[in-house]
Amino acid sequence: MRLLVCGGAGFIGSTFVRLRLREYGDEITVLDKLTYAGRRENLHDVLEEIRFVHGAIENPAAVADAIEGCDAVVNFAAETHVDRSISGPDAFIVTNMQGTHVLLEAARERGLRYAQVSTDEVYGSIESGSFTEESPLCPSSPYSATKTGADLLVSSYFHTYGMETVICRGSNNYGPYQYPEKLIPLMILNAVAGDRLPVYGDGRNVRNWLYTEDFGRGISAALVSGTPGEAYNCGGPDECENLHVVERIIELTGADPALIEFVTDRPGHDRRYSLSSEKLRALGWEPRVRFDEGLERTVGWYKDNDWWWEPIRAGDYREYYERHYGRALR
Ligand SMILES: NC(=O)c1ccc[n+]([C@@H]2O[C@H](COP(=O)([O-])OP(=O)(O)OC[C@H]3O[C@@H](n4cnc5c(N)ncnc54)[C@H](O)[C@@H]3O)[C@@H](O)[C@H]2O)c1
Repeated sequence: MRLLVCGGAGFIGSTFVRLRLREYGDEITVLDKLTYAGRRENLHDVLEEIRFVHGAIENPAAVADAIEGCDAVVNFAAETHVDRSISGPDAFIVTNMQGTHVLLEAARERGLRYAQVSTDEVYGSIESGSFTEESPLCPSSPYSATKTGADLLVSSYFHTYGMETVICRGSNNYGPYQYPEKLIPLMILNAVAGDRLPVYGDGRNVRNWLYTEDFGRGISAALVSGTPGEAYNCGGPDECENLHVVERIIELTGADPALIEFVTDRPGHDRRYSLSSEKLRALGWEPRVRFDEGLERTVGWYKDNDWWWEPIRAGDYREYYERHYGRALR
């Protein structure tokens, strides 16, 4: 396929680009604004094999340039950090909603298939059981609300214009190349550096962990074999409390357990997410990486790739971290 991958310089997008090049032999154009979370370094080993367009999805001219010659669009581009959406929602409205609209228009004009990458957070929190694609959408943060708005807009383009759209909703991803503001890389890098390990609330929030390559395969299945107009959940094989994730990282890095520090909970923090992925499994997808194995691989990757994260921890991230957690990194 000739794919336009929007947000392909981010964590999941870059993994997807690598997967589609290596396993499917696609021709790929990446359109990415290169925000703090998007980095050419995430594509360092494949930059020669793709076309890279530096631009924003909310900019119709940049989209028109990037989409030239493509058969399908996959949209990863988003503002993605819940904490940042609480302190500054504006960028989330522009990228997640307006940007999705610009992409949909460009794909519609050209009659292209369109896959929207979405999240389990659109369903909100669930005490027990799992959400199916028929569950009501009940987002609770500006991040998840703007992702939900985008999903509804995508569905409307199927219903109104008959456009070939699919949506793939992933649970919490982890793996190499994830920006260290998110739980797992944050804890790994702090553990390695001997920094405190800030755990929100009582640490009992439960997440359904999905190795990022497994999400890439799930998105591929929805893109290639999904029925137009449908959404597909893509949940990880294992659930785990945040505190247990941190304890496991301590074991894998040999850090001091006394580094754990319970900090004031995030406002509106969802307690538990859980997805039923039966519909995606019916397309032949299944997760290949269990949490224990994936976490070990991920810790190993961060230990071996300080060239990737040292510039982040030495740059603007320090200021963000200090503002957010009220203490400086080492
Ligand atoms: N990380 C998770 O656990 C998770 C789980 C489920 C779904 N998702 C979804 O997957 C997608 C990718 O998430 P991620 O974790 O890789 O995020 P990320 O923050 O690592 O990457 C986002 C990418 O989008 C780019 N971007 C941001 N605004 C842009 C704009 N206006 N125009 C063009 N590019 C822009 C950034 O530069 C970056 O490369 C998002 O849509 C997110 O909602 C993430």
